[in-house]
Amino acid sequence: MSDAATTAQKSPPKVSGEKPDVGHMEEFGANFARFLMRCNAECGELAEFNMGGQQTVLMSGPAAQEAFLKTLDQKLSRAAAYQATVPVFGKGVIFDAPPDKMKIQLKIQVDALRFQKMKNYSAIISREVEDWVAGWGDEGELDFLEEFLHLTLHTATHCLLGTDFRYKLTDEFRELYHALEKGLQAIAFVDPYMQQPIFEARDKARERLQELIGAIIAERRANTDVQYEDALETFMAGTYADGSFLTDNEITGLVIATIFAGHHTSSGTATWTLTELARQKKYSSAVLQELQVLFGDGAPITFESLREIPRLEHFIEEVLRLHPPLILLMRRVIEDIDYNGTLIEAGKTVAISTYGSHRNTDYFPDPECFDPHRSSPDTLFAYIPFGGGPHKCAGNAFAMMQLKAIFAALLPRYEFELVDPDDSYQDDFSAIVLKPNGPCRLRYKRRK
Ligand code: HEM
Repeated sequence: MSDAATTAQKSPPKVSGEKPDVGHMEEFGANFARFLMRCNAECGELAEFNMGGQQTVLMSGPAAQEAFLKTLDQKLSRAAAYQATVPVFGKGVIFDAPPDKMKIQLKIQVDALRFQKMKNYSAIISREVEDWVAGWGDEGELDFLEEFLHLTLHTATHCLLGTDFRYKLTDEFRELYHALEKGLQAIAFVDPYMQQPIFEARDKARERLQELIGAIIAERRANTDVQYEDALETFMAGTYADGSFLTDNEITGLVIATIFAGHHTSSGTATWTLTELARQKKYSSAVLQELQVLFGDGAPITFESLREIPRLEHFIEEVLRLHPPLILLMRRVIEDIDYNGTLIEAGKTVAISTYGSHRNTDYFPDPECFDPHRSSPDTLFAYIPFGGGPHKCAGNAFAMMQLKAIFAALLPRYEFELVDPDDSYQDDFSAIVLKPNGPCRLRYKRRK
């Protein structure tokens, strides 16, 4: 994308069906993934629609998606598009920090999720999974949507904040976390500061969480010889250009932001993976064989043994193609932009849809068909469950390792089947992060 020339240029084509005042809000709200596919089908690479007054341009196809993902924050700002997160993450944290500070905070967050850290995290996750299945017995039925939400909150708090925090404070933490989650409902994207009980509860929860995390920080500062090897240790060690450390408020904000980025994305993907494993017998038996060879005799699930599990990896990749948890990525246009002769004016929002991109028949023939053997597209920007460019998901390695650890432990031990009719397991488009519509019931039975 280049800066817009001053000569007149054409505007992006407008999507039909706009209503007075609300624009396309109603259609968007009913099923935004389908709405975005309609926009692309009707208008092509660029499609402009109206979100209650906010003009939004959907950019579709690998070339437009690449331009979107590679354009720097100074021109396409995430901060302006994600202001609702400010009271949740905290003042001065990530999208509310000045650009130079935001860059360093993001780098520190990436450091905490680096590949080298995965050794310790994989041991923690394996232990959490073992504790979880320990009480299952020989057979039973569970709502795995709920189960994976709990499991991934436990693994996230454990990896981020350490063993003590995970086992001492989980109940209180869970309540605080839920209050913060409620503070990010759709209404927060209209005005996150309006007088609302959910926002008051959000602010109290944010304050209390900082007290709790501040207490661990103080304890750790007094015991500098202990090594914790969790994300909090990395956040506490990080420094700005002038050598100063992050404040308790900023560290708390990074913890919250990291949990938010990883929690629903991971639990939704785990639930869909288990559902598809139960539904796609044609492919899941090959995954099971692979896991039985690697882990069937009780071999430990470790960082090393999790590194290469190709059939399971391809299976999860296909799950992420059909059910990408983050459907819609957004940026606010800061300076006018010329996209191949079309002017996208400052003040508009631009968006890309992972869901639509993964159903582009040029790259994914028969797109609704689940097929983990399909060949990869010859461009990097058609398959984008983790985004791409400078802000590609920092938790990609963590997410894949966690999913592999979960299924390496579950599949060789138990067989799973759907409780409800196959076609009742569908995507739920009512939340910002895609997941199956609950309850997502499966029956399990110990393998002989
Ligand atoms: C299957 C699981 C996951 C998926 C599909 C996913 C997807 C994504 C996507 C699409 C983005 C880019 C957003 C944008 O460009 O606006 C992103 C960013 C991010 N993700 Fe993930 N994510 C997953 C799991 C995780 C986990 C487990 C963590 C942390 C433990 C995490 C941490 C982050 C962070 C910190 C960013 C922001 C990076 C930056 O701003 O530079 N994600 N994720």
